Amino acid sequence: MLNKMRVFFLFFRNNTKLIAALGCLASRQKHSLPDLPYDYGALEPHISAEIMQLHHSKHHAAYVNNLNVTEEKYKEALAKGDVTAQVSLQPALKFNGGGHINHTIFWTNLSPNGGGEPQGELMEAIKRDFGSFGNFKEKLTAVSVGVQGSGWGWLGFNQGQGCLQVTACYNQDPLQGTTGLIPLLGIDVWEHAYYLQYKNVRPDYLKAIWNVINWENVSARYTACKK
Ligand SMILES: [Fe+2]
Repeated sequence: MLNKMRVFFLFFRNNTKLIAALGCLASRQKHSLPDLPYDYGALEPHISAEIMQLHHSKHHAAYVNNLNVTEEKYKEALAKGDVTAQVSLQPALKFNGGGHINHTIFWTNLSPNGGGEPQGELMEAIKRDFGSFGNFKEKLTAVSVGVQGSGWGWLGFNQGQGCLQVTACYNQDPLQGTTGLIPLLGIDVWEHAYYLQYKNVRPDYLKAIWNVINWENVSARYTACKK
């Protein structure tokens, strides 16, 4: 026993740098709430500061915290070889992981200098796959308004077919993880995204959000996924 303790002591004494590095690695693996690239009030009058503050600092933060907790439990279950526990944690991983992924994309899809229409390659692809920008806008709006309960409307890229697609996902199901489409533009249609300002009238929120879409960000995502 004493010999074993001596071995442990020598290991810790001689590997302090390694242990510190592993500690850093473990802490880096924790997810954190990303800062918004603009102020909470920057999207007014289209999305109120109150909505943005609650949405980011409470709702998104909760997904991040719960994702970290779930991952910890998942690591423990993996270490124990407890497959039942791993399976039972998967819905929480999908919900909170999806919530973190979706909102992280959403904040960058919006901008106080947004609105208008995209240009270049993305606009050409929209015209090719939807006929016109107007048709695309109508389609994504209809799909988003039509989500029953909570979910997201998406513009995604189908890498296999090389085309753009519009679809909806329920709850916090992440687009790529559940459909294979690469996310370009997501519209959050959970009530927490609009209720304080638009009450139950989701179509009014949808009408307003087009004024703050960051087409530069959506275009950059399109260019990146085509490489
Ligand atoms: Fe949300």
